[in-house]
Amino acid sequence: MNLIVHENYDEMSVAAAERIASIIQERPTATILPATGSTPMTAYADLSRMSDAGLLDASQVRVFQLDEYLGLAETDFRSLFAWTLRSLVAPLGIPRDRVRNLPGQASDPDAACRDYDAAIEAAGGIDLAILGLGPNGHLGFNEPPSNLDAPSRVVELTPESITSNGPYWGGTDRVPPQALTAGMSVIRDARAVLLLVSGEHKRSILERTIRGEVTPDCPSTWLQRHPNVTVFADRAAAGYLPSDN
Ligand code: PGA
Repeated sequence: MNLIVHENYDEMSVAAAERIASIIQERPTATILPATGSTPMTAYADLSRMSDAGLLDASQVRVFQLDEYLGLAETDFRSLFAWTLRSLVAPLGIPRDRVRNLPGQASDPDAACRDYDAAIEAAGGIDLAILGLGPNGHLGFNEPPSNLDAPSRVVELTPESITSNGPYWGGTDRVPPQALTAGMSVIRDARAVLLLVSGEHKRSILERTIRGEVTPDCPSTWLQRHPNVTVFADRAAAGYLPSDN
């Protein structure tokens, strides 16, 4: 894992956006797996500015949705699909038909997850996963415990994830208890992974991710086994961990 530490969140976001842009410039048809959550939002806004300025053409990028709450319609403002559309897909001018969702309202969610994995395989795999780090080490909604070969699937959210997502829902009691997630196997097979981590509250989970024992009980530790992971962290999250750049 390559750890790149920036002094603050905004600088980290600029650097992450530049890395994402350079990957898209090298491979305009790149297939990406982008997280929602608060951490990547400024990087996405920076990418949007590059796109508006004519410095980035993302119109051929293909997007696979990382995760979704079970039971939510695509059109629901609170869905992670809608969030992906408004934060990344629309601002970058990526055509809607190049976005593959994880359908929160599928009549058979297990079958929908199998179809999703098959669609990723048919697309030739993921070029770039852009991930945030859950306070419990989840990636997407691969909650602990998650094995490295876990396929895309329906999961029960842990109390930690319900707590951390409570603010988005106006209270923990309103957070849907289940979700669909791209599996750890999708992240494992991604050709490149960027992990964005910000804030002092992520310090201990970031240290565990990088230096801890690799275990299903902390799914992010599996990234230690991945050959191409770059962690963009701000100093508040990295603490005394040394930057590799
Ligand atoms: P955050 O979420 O970016 O809002 O901190 C990360 C996550 O829980 O995966």
